[in-house]
Amino acid sequence: MGQVEIQGSKNAVLPMIAAAVLVNGTVCLKGCPQISDIDDMIKLFEALGGRVVRKANRDIVLDGKDIHSVKVEREYAGKIRASILYLGAILGRMGEAMVAKPGGCVIGKRPIDQHIFQMKNLGYRVDEKSGEYYFYSEKRESNVTLQLPYSSVGVTENIILASVLGNQTVCVRNAAIEPEIRSLCLFLKKAGALIEGIGTSELMIHGVHRLKDVVFEVPADRIVAGTYAFAAMSTGGVIELCHVPVNELECVMKLLLRLGAILDIREDSLTIVAPKVCNRIGYVETGIYPGFPTDLQSPLLPVLCMADGNSVVCEKIFENRFGVVDELNKMGAKISVNGTKATVFGKSRLTGASVLAKELRGGAALIIAGLSARGESQVSGISYIERGYEDIVRDLRFLGADIEKITNGETF
Ligand code: EPZ
Repeated sequence: MGQVEIQGSKNAVLPMIAAAVLVNGTVCLKGCPQISDIDDMIKLFEALGGRVVRKANRDIVLDGKDIHSVKVEREYAGKIRASILYLGAILGRMGEAMVAKPGGCVIGKRPIDQHIFQMKNLGYRVDEKSGEYYFYSEKRESNVTLQLPYSSVGVTENIILASVLGNQTVCVRNAAIEPEIRSLCLFLKKAGALIEGIGTSELMIHGVHRLKDVVFEVPADRIVAGTYAFAAMSTGGVIELCHVPVNELECVMKLLLRLGAILDIREDSLTIVAPKVCNRIGYVETGIYPGFPTDLQSPLLPVLCMADGNSVVCEKIFENRFGVVDELNKMGAKISVNGTKATVFGKSRLTGASVLAKELRGGAALIIAGLSARGESQVSGISYIERGYEDIVRDLRFLGADIEKITNGETF
């Protein structure tokens, strides 16, 4: 019960940090959440020769004037997937780049074949040696049209980052239209980039000579907002999410209504009145924007466990994103996974247990389950959760949760 302020968007900030490589001056990002993925993206920016100042008020000032390196340090490739976005940014600024194969993670293989393919279509050659890819400029057509076979978020972002500087005009068809792409384009436009079709699946990018200093307010995080909405739904709560990107949550709000919630939708706040018992959801599938976000698929599962019947959830984006089901079943959930579908048997009463987070959104799902389970739960592996949630314990306590963080035996 209560109000909570939604943090800035992790997936909007990460590509903007990479984009700062393209600015031969300073970039100030305002309202960045204090999360480890951003720390890692900043370390990479500094490894390239950039300078960063993190201010106490969540502003980050990046200075790319002295960037000299074209190599993305291998140690970051696997640690933070968004490091692949430096490929486009470094190519855009330096005309060559070296990146290591990122390797998979628990939710999927996370290949970069499409990133490589589209950089080639922009006119770059690539040599692979000992697990590293070296990209260098060959002949660059002045006009290029790229037709994406799949609307990949990261691939779309890399193409934009590789194209805003220089003298190419690049048309991207079937581009991803996630809100984070739109905010990246608005950020670059404010720095002087020439991009048409912002917010649509067809972008036209006209290379410019240079980008200028820019100050940009990062948008709120739609996935964090959705996570807390599901926390309220799993506990029959009444919460108000403040500073929330309501216009990016159409699909999530539709699902909340299907679950039986009453919503009060304002300009940038959303009040959710959860029902005593949620309705079952016959079938829901994740999809590219504006479909149901894959990042909210795991947080939805504990809500469906207590619904008044069985639900089917289909994961269509990542090939292995039901990893949290085993841990939820340890808490008394009855979820069975068959390929891309999970059947959630409703009317379960979850019981507290010691469970282990193995990735970011699955970790958030375990906390949601712990809030509604009978008795106490202990969720370990919270460093995964802190990659994307600035302080989920603080936020949920604002909403009346009985939750505390334990680090080496001490509680906070
Ligand atoms: C972004 O990842 C987000 N990460 C993910 O959020 C999010 O789940 C995903 O988009 C989908 O919305 C950031 O923005 C930093 P994709 P990205 O390229 O760009 C396959 C979170 O929890 N693919 O749209 O990696 C890929 O394997 C994270 O915050 C290829 O096959 O997503 C996946 O199955 C998790 N080859 C699908 O496309 C490629 O070259 C979607 O990937 C690239 C992708």
